[in-house]
Amino acid sequence: MENKTGFRVCWMLLVLGAWFVSPALAKDVVIKEPPASLSKQYPPESKESKWLDIMHKMSGHFGGVFINMGQKDWPNAEKHAQGLADVYEDASKLVPEWKDYFDVKAAKDFVSVVKTHDPAEISKASKLVGKTCGKCHDDNLVAVWTRYHWPSVENIKLEDPIDEKEVEYGKYMHVLSNAFKGVRVNFGDGKNDIALKAAKDFKKRYMELKSTCSKCHTHPGVKQFFVGEDVSKALDAMEAELATDKPNPGVIWKNVGIVGQEGCKKCHLTHRSYVIFRDVWEEEAEAKK
Ligand code: HEC
Ligand code: HEC
Ligand code: HEC
Repeated sequence: MENKTGFRVCWMLLVLGAWFVSPALAKDVVIKEPPASLSKQYPPESKESKWLDIMHKMSGHFGGVFINMGQKDWPNAEKHAQGLADVYEDASKLVPEWKDYFDVKAAKDFVSVVKTHDPAEISKASKLVGKTCGKCHDDNLVAVWTRYHWPSVENIKLEDPIDEKEVEYGKYMHVLSNAFKGVRVNFGDGKNDIALKAAKDFKKRYMELKSTCSKCHTHPGVKQFFVGEDVSKALDAMEAELATDKPNPGVIWKNVGIVGQEGCKKCHLTHRSYVIFRDVWEEEAEAKK
């Protein structure tokens, strides 16, 4: 009898749960700025990335239950289930804005269910906990990477090799973009002499980007990409062709394409998205002031 009631209550909770959860299932991915109180869990406010350490602990315990279950080592499986529930409950108190993502009862129920040593029931109960992990990750993982793991270009400056001025990174991109247009537009308009001068300046400016990689990378090997041989050969070929009496448009546009694709585009695909997310958050914060 008691069992039956318990079953019914569980079932009702499941239905209710599904009903409560479904309106929140957004179709669009929204990269929302992480809540302010999360900053206590990350440098500079905390020495380490504490939140991430907690995540690894939970994940270790969660996995530990199943690894031990596979070996029928129940004492250790139970120990890990308890470990998971404890860390999970602690975590649920750390970031008030996120407390609704947690289902502490599900984590505690999981501990009891592991004690039944019934793999099918354990798997079922684990899904109720696992769902809460996944929901929060879907909503917040990329935002947290953007805020706390992606290094900023804000403090990077470059020395413009043409007018020898120090320029901040974002502004330098505009200088570079205009320099590239200088080559394309002037050549397109048949002003080959101006295009040749523009190509020489553009090459110097482009290759100056190499000076920035070591601000974030320790491995010099990354310089094979975006600022490596393919792009530098294309820049040389473009310049050499423009220096001839009758530059061949096919050769010019092919090399323009290589620079645009192997250089600008591929570097943007790798490095620019996070900068854009952060810029939008900053604009929002400005607008609120
Ligand atoms: C309230 C939100 C939230 C909940 C609930 C949550 N996580 Fe996380 N988790 C995060 C965030 C945010 C990160 C990214 C942390 C970072 O990269 O610094 C993360 C990262 C992780 C990572 C590292 C992933 C990676 O690729 O670096 C693991 C593993 C992980 N979580 C496991 C779990 C498990 C297991 C649960 C459930 C038992 C869980 N998390 C519940 C927010 C949450
Ligand atoms: C503001 C910091 C920053 C600067 C400056 C920067 N990168 Fe990166 N780059 C990153 C981060 C972060 C990643 C992601 C993975 C990582 O940390 O290596 C990455 C990834 C890459 C990757 C993908 C492979 C890999 O190692 O992860 C390449 C290739 C790369 N960068 C090349 C370059 C080159 C070439 C330059 C200089 C022209 C450069 N980067 C400048 C931050 C930067
Ligand atoms: C080494 C990687 C890298 C290369 C190569 C690169 N860019 Fe960028 N670019 C970035 C990053 C990172 C940003 C984001 C900077 C910011 O917004 O502060 C950016 C931003 C820009 C912007 C927007 C600037 C702003 O403030 O809105 C333009 C325009 C641009 N790049 C043009 C180019 C052109 C054209 C080329 C090729 C001739 C190029 N970039 C090559 C990394 C690169």
